[in-house]
This record gives sequence, C-alpha cells and structure tokens, in this order.
Amino acid sequence: MKQKIINLQLATHVGALIPFAWMLWDFFTHNYGPDPIREFTLRTGKTALVLLLLSLACTPINTIFKFRQALRLRRPLGLYSFMYASLHFAIFIGVDYFFNFALIQDALLEKRYAVVGLTTGLILLSLAITSTQGWQRRLKKNWKKLHKLAYAAGILAVIHYIWLVKQGVTQPWYFAAVLILLLALRVAPIKKWAGSRLKGV
Ligand code: HEM
Repeated sequence: MKQKIINLQLATHVGALIPFAWMLWDFFTHNYGPDPIREFTLRTGKTALVLLLLSLACTPINTIFKFRQALRLRRPLGLYSFMYASLHFAIFIGVDYFFNFALIQDALLEKRYAVVGLTTGLILLSLAITSTQGWQRRLKKNWKKLHKLAYAAGILAVIHYIWLVKQGVTQPWYFAAVLILLLALRVAPIKKWAGSRLKGV
C-alpha cells in the first residue's frame, strides 16, 4: 500500500514536471513559433490551469471513488500550479514588458483579464505559503476556510481565460464545464447521487 502511494506521488511529480522539461527543450532547440514570448506565456498559463483543476479534482475523486490517496496529491498539484503561474507571470513582466513597471501597471489595471489573472496569482501565492503543516497548525480552523479559496482561484483562472480569447474560441468553455462539474460534485445531493451511481466503478 505504502509503495503504491509513493508510486502515485512520484508519477504526480514526474507528470507535473514534464511540461516544464518540454518547454526547456523547445526553448533550447528553438522549437517555437514566430512569437516565442506568447507561445511560452500560453503554455505556462494552460499548464497552471490544468494542474489547478487536477488539484481541485482530488477531493471529489476521494468522496466518489473512496480513493483516499488522491487527497495526498492536492498539495503537490496546487504547488506545481503555482510554479507554472509564477513562470507565466515572470514571462509577462520580465520578458514581455522587460520590467517596465509603468507599462506593467497600466497593462495590469487596464485589461480586465490581467486584473483577474493577478488576483488568481495572489490567491495561489497565499495558498502556497500556507500549505505547510506549520501554517496548518497556526491557522487551525481558519486554514480550511483559507484553502477553500482554491475554488475561487479555479473560477477566476477560467474567467481570465474566457476574457482573453477572441470571440468564437471555445476551448476555455471546456475548462469551465470541468470546473462546474467539480463544483457541482461538492453539493451534498449531487455528491450522494454520484457516489451511489459510481460505487464499484
Ligand atoms: C499573474 C497575473 C497574470 C497575468 C498578467 C496573465 C497574463 C496573461 C497573458 C498576457 C496571456 C496571453 C494572452 C494572449 O496573448 O493571448 C495569458 C494567457 C493565459 N493565462 Fe494568464 N496571466 C496571469 C495569471 C494567470 C494564472 C494565475 C493562470 C492560471 C492559474 C493563468 C492562465 C492562463 C491561461 C489558461 C491562458 C491562455 C492559454 C491559452 O490560450 O492556451 N494566468 N495570461
């Protein structure tokens, strides 16, 4: 059993680092399109969102399939999401805007998708800082309340995505559908229904 948990955790770390290794490979082999800044901004943003949704999926997976090991993956998945979101932001301020803080301030405040992205990033930062056992002990009951903000981060990240794409681009709506499903599975009657339907699957 312990070996299985270790294997699952190892697979999570390896899986979460593959997109990073892939990006480094593509960067050093010049395997990117005509706009590398945009390409890596999009790739880091998309990876951060996928990992955030995977982290949010761990609790429903445990409640429906009684798969407790999934709970241990919430923290690493959340931290990796934060890592990619930090890279995403670093490319935005360091490479795209070359640390021109006047321009960055304008961009962050004028574009609504950037305001929402920044808020998501700040939530992920606060969750990453307080994700240790020390903070869990210090914050006691408030720790759980604070970490419910992960759902707000998921909602804001999807809004960020919906707001920045051109009209007619449907991909963000697939992410919205997954998020709605994950949120719905927290509602008691739906949780109970899904649990009884999927028991033994
Ligand atoms: C910290 C503040 C943030 C800023 C300033 C920011 C800015 C941007 C920019 C400039 C783009 C590219 C727009 C384009 O050229 O089309 C983008 C795309 C994206 N961002 Fe962010 N972002 C932030 C935070 C986040 C966070 C925290 C997440 C997810 C957890 C995220 C997820 C995404 C996604 C999914 C895309 C679109 C990827 C795609 O189209 O393939 N962003 N963001």
